[in-house]
Amino acid sequence: MLLERERKLVAEYGRMLLMEGLTKGKAGNLSVIDRARRLVAVKPSAVEYLEIVPEDVAVLDLEGKQVEGPWKPSSETPMHLALYRERPDIGAVIHTHSPYSTTFACLEREIPPVHYLIAVAGTHVPCVPYAAFGTEALAESAARGIGCGKAVLLAHHGLVTVGADLAEAFSVAQAVEFVAEIAWRVSCVGVPQGMTPGQIEDALRRMSHYGRSALAGEDGA
Ligand code: 13P
Repeated sequence: MLLERERKLVAEYGRMLLMEGLTKGKAGNLSVIDRARRLVAVKPSAVEYLEIVPEDVAVLDLEGKQVEGPWKPSSETPMHLALYRERPDIGAVIHTHSPYSTTFACLEREIPPVHYLIAVAGTHVPCVPYAAFGTEALAESAARGIGCGKAVLLAHHGLVTVGADLAEAFSVAQAVEFVAEIAWRVSCVGVPQGMTPGQIEDALRRMSHYGRSALAGEDGA
């Protein structure tokens, strides 16, 4: 089976998206690229996450031609491929309809940077204009709109995150949804106060030291 490890990861992280409440039913999609082999493993279209086994995951070349898998690949395959073309630094893409992030997407607003964890996604999470799902227009706009960050909102649709691998793209989706929920809660009781660009840059810098390296001797200051 081609891309066996990557297809297992797509099936596994799909279930995790569901368990974390980051998506529902069959909505959203995810993929992993093997740049050396120039192949991508993509969730099949319109299949319930709980039903997906590794063999169901589609394998495509970078032109979008399917080379393995019994089902049609995700309708958002053009968006995944456009992101891989635009961002040679990434190895995985996740698209969700996470409720709080999607709330801001439906307001056509960036996620208010009310909590330092916004820095997990970069300096900000922009929102690109609406384009119909599965279109090249949406693919191009998401790939351009994400810039050098790790997340972008799709107006009236949902969230897209990227990472070196699925673990990172998943953590970014969790962090963005957390900040979106807090921003929504804050706006229920007061006026959200966004962090300043300087505070976010500082959080970004500190985050680059954050990790499991207990003996690194670095306090991040
Ligand atoms: P697929 O089931 O084709 O991946 O589409 C789901 C979706 O969320 C479209 O944006």
